[in-house]
Amino acid sequence: MLDLIDKQKLPKHVAIIMDGNGRWAKERGKDRLFGHQHGVISVREVVEGCVEIGVQYLTLYAFSTENWNRPQSEVNGLMELLVTTIRKEADSLNKNGVRLHVIGDFSTLPESCIVELNEAMELTAANTALNLILALSYSSKWEITEATRKIAAKVANHELTVDDIDEETFKNHLATKDFPDPELMIRTSGEHRISNFLLFQLAYAELYFTHTHWPDFRKENLYESLLNYQNRERRFGKISEQL
Ligand code: FPP
Repeated sequence: MLDLIDKQKLPKHVAIIMDGNGRWAKERGKDRLFGHQHGVISVREVVEGCVEIGVQYLTLYAFSTENWNRPQSEVNGLMELLVTTIRKEADSLNKNGVRLHVIGDFSTLPESCIVELNEAMELTAANTALNLILALSYSSKWEITEATRKIAAKVANHELTVDDIDEETFKNHLATKDFPDPELMIRTSGEHRISNFLLFQLAYAELYFTHTHWPDFRKENLYESLLNYQNRERRFGKISEQL
């Protein structure tokens, strides 16, 4: 499958909604955290796959604002898994040229998580092979509201005028201001929803849905989605003959 992918026509940025950990675990008679733990193996696989093939940005939806409403035991387990995974994987990310970024509402994250993330972001800050962006305590409505507040504050302080506000200004106030928009968004586990993920940034993204549960997602599944992406015609509002 890898041979079929045109390396010149890769998406620069792939975003993934990693769904189905709970169902995967339930099918095996295990609790939901078992699914999340296995999901970490898939995270490693797609990170490696992106580095090997040359995708430059990978955003993973690891924890949404709405996920705080899950049972406390699952929330705690997920936070702990994140902290231990970052701690365990930071050196390997660094060796492989991966730079870690986080988007989301830091103010809601436990201190231990913030410390671990800051250390890993600092450690990997000079890397350029792959930008790995974790969306953590993230929701698009939160991000868009925050951007609006920041812009409004600048207008109130006379740093910006209303006429200055265009798409570029807005983009530059989003948590993703340093990254290009994703060209491909993958959601695993059969749901056809965007679930408050990168609503502004996905405006022209190709959406790819697969029934595979996240803990079963491997490099081959990533390659399959890239191949599918390359076989689509991206028209951006134009007609075929104009492309
Ligand atoms: C969705 O499955 C998955 C999550 C909410 C968490 C994803 C987190 C991980 C895979 C661990 C991430 C670790 C790092 C380091 C990024 P679900 O629980 O909604 O599954 P369900 O829809 O079957 O219930």
